[in-house]
Amino acid sequence: MILVYSLGGSILAGRDAESLKEYAQALKNLSEEHQIFVVVGGGKIAREYIGKARALAASEAFCDLLGIGATKLNAMLLIAALGRAAAPEPAESYAGALLASAPGRIVVLGGMQPGQTTDAVAALLAEYARADKLIVATSVDGVYSADPEVDSRAVKFDKMTCRELASLSMETTLSAGSRSPVDPLAAKIIERSSIPTVVVYGGDAENLKRAAEGGHSGTEIS
Ligand code: UTP
Repeated sequence: MILVYSLGGSILAGRDAESLKEYAQALKNLSEEHQIFVVVGGGKIAREYIGKARALAASEAFCDLLGIGATKLNAMLLIAALGRAAAPEPAESYAGALLASAPGRIVVLGGMQPGQTTDAVAALLAEYARADKLIVATSVDGVYSADPEVDSRAVKFDKMTCRELASLSMETTLSAGSRSPVDPLAAKIIERSSIPTVVVYGGDAENLKRAAEGGHSGTEIS
């Protein structure tokens, strides 16, 4: 299968070298069976830097560019962990990602342009590469009716349609560094091309395989 992973920056940040190596090994194992693309998020560094720049009155577009810088840092760290199993630098375009892919070679990307998050990059890449599945591996274990960290009445969806995901994500904001499960642009792309999508907790490397092959406890979107 062609698989595109959107890996939340918080999943990688905070891991020591050994733990990064273990996580990378899970991706390497998957790449023996599948064609893998991984889009890496900005995580804590992105939020910290965006927070400071915003407090310094930087524009939202400037903050987005700062966030993109953070995603590239994390992408390069994952490339370091993957070693020869990865293309040597983050792809700068969708065509570049496709050109860099080869059997057994993982292509890693960061952010692309302001006004979106890496989920949108992953959704566009999944569309462009005609991926079999888009897997959003994030800090929450699925799509909830509300932010589970804030609202204790939030319920997790086991399954939902692409249209339901799109209307849910439209209710969230587009501001730089915002924390929603899937950004509105990503949800729109998923909806227009009916991209089979799974949202799982990415902190457990086993979930990367479960999301692709079955047996996960996240949200299935189709
Ligand atoms: P993330 O994709 O990590 O955003 O990009 P996020 O979803 O807010 O973070 P996680 O998933 O909780 O870790 C970090 C920031 O970089 C900018 C945005 O400001 C985003 O919030 N960004 C990223 C872009 O402007 N364009 C991109 O293509 C990617």
